[in-house]
Amino acid sequence: MTPDLGFDHRYLPGDDESPPTLLLLHGTGGNEEDLIPLGQELLPGAAILSPRGKVSEYGAPRFFRRLAEGVFDHEDLLFRTHELAAFVEAAADEYGFDPSKIVAVGYSNGANVAASTILLHPGLLSAAVLFRAMVPFEPEVTPDLGGMPVFLAAGRMDRMIPPDNTQSLADLLTEAGAEVDLRWRNVGHPLTYEEVSEAKQWLAGILPELAT
Ligand code: MLT
Repeated sequence: MTPDLGFDHRYLPGDDESPPTLLLLHGTGGNEEDLIPLGQELLPGAAILSPRGKVSEYGAPRFFRRLAEGVFDHEDLLFRTHELAAFVEAAADEYGFDPSKIVAVGYSNGANVAASTILLHPGLLSAAVLFRAMVPFEPEVTPDLGGMPVFLAAGRMDRMIPPDNTQSLADLLTEAGAEVDLRWRNVGHPLTYEEVSEAKQWLAGILPELAT
């Protein structure tokens, strides 16, 4: 039986003794099953921790409330981000995975809550792959991200995530000391196979950094 750690979730152990753990964060209307094939494609053999967002928007699971498309409920976002961070820590204890090798993989709303987690809990995540992300909030204090590798994939024709907003997120993370790799494509909101393939190569390249 899956232990109750505050979120409905899936956990799949990795192949090796101490593999990285991919924290999979789905988009609006997704669930804990959705991104498992993506995670397995991105980093075969990694452990997988995949929670379902606890906010329901007319039945569609999300990781935090929004007031309108792209307009976030700031108070709920902060509360849900702390709640998610506490879940990740509890899951590391429960399942015994290495808390120093957690890589967030988020799409859309999941990428936004991952960005919020990076800003509010620097050090919790070792790296992040953010597909279709935007600035979750403007931090009052810029965190020190100490060279954290972050991959961003954005679509120039995305109608949900304004391209200049993704650029602002990349600038914010860079200013905070992250090693940002922002890739643009002439695509819309849905994720493309080429971007998955680019993210896979990028992850393979940062693996040695995770091992240290
Ligand atoms: C959000 O609400 O996080 C963004 O607008 C993206 C999405 O709709 O999931």
